[in-house]
Amino acid sequence: MRHLLSTADLSRDDALLILDTAEQLAQVSGRSIKKLPTLRGRTVVNLFFEDSTRTRISFEAAAKRLSADVINFSAKGSSVSKGESLKDTALTLQAMGADAVVVRHGASGAPHRLANWVDGSVVNAGDGTHEHPTQALLDAFTMRRRLGDLVGRRVTIVGDVLHSRVARSNVHLLHTLGAEVTLVAPPTLLPVAMGDWPCEVSYDFDAVLPKSDVVMMLRVQHERMNASYFPSAREYSRRYGLDPERLGRMPDGAIVMHPGPMNRGMEIAAEVADSERSTIVEQVTNGVTVRMAVLYLLLSGNEPAIGGNQ
Ligand code: CP
Repeated sequence: MRHLLSTADLSRDDALLILDTAEQLAQVSGRSIKKLPTLRGRTVVNLFFEDSTRTRISFEAAAKRLSADVINFSAKGSSVSKGESLKDTALTLQAMGADAVVVRHGASGAPHRLANWVDGSVVNAGDGTHEHPTQALLDAFTMRRRLGDLVGRRVTIVGDVLHSRVARSNVHLLHTLGAEVTLVAPPTLLPVAMGDWPCEVSYDFDAVLPKSDVVMMLRVQHERMNASYFPSAREYSRRYGLDPERLGRMPDGAIVMHPGPMNRGMEIAAEVADSERSTIVEQVTNGVTVRMAVLYLLLSGNEPAIGGNQ
């Protein structure tokens, strides 16, 4: 694997290798070993053209825990504001010795373009409304830790699917891992063409809820939204929000997920987000471990992930 651009590119073996490597790394972290020497001498560039809290910081933490050098690039305050192109920005960073470029961009497909221009590995950290593969991997990792094998598990993804790169990445990865995915959304918040999405679609959250092992709530992305096709906030919460009453109708052992950032009180009630069934904080913790596994597998060559000088 040279790049990580899309979960649709991952075979079952690829996906399991990443998840199993992350599990090994989590066990090392659990033994209070905070830093591994594996990527010493390698340089990871975080190239963020869109805002991020979790993804940017966790890639930085992951690279540093593997002893890589990290360069953080934010479009704000850079020569992008003078009109410099993505290609010239990337070539400039490559000239400074980037072995991997972690890129978030508002344009769907930008990481794929970048992969044609740079010699190092490219990791898609979220491109437009297209994909967010490491989010799906950390979500799958979190589900496996809570529920075990995902084969036959029923995962319900609810909300603003139209603008969600998280939904598409999860649908492909969870299908590859053997889970059964149902998307629940108002008709206006579903993509028009979903021919290649391996999942079911429903408009009725209450019908799907009692059969779900996982309920993953999506953020309503107001910044990408045309108000004309969004129901009122009150109507949206009533039909598609996860409140304590709906939480009570989930099966025993079922979990609640959200990739963050959340609109508390809109797609998810605060009591639900903070409940024992919620994995939202675990997802953030697991994000560092999963991103360590991705960087390790892309950059390490034959170095062992675990072992050596700590
Ligand atoms: N889940 C996610 O991608 O969060 P950030 O936008 O904060 O990185």
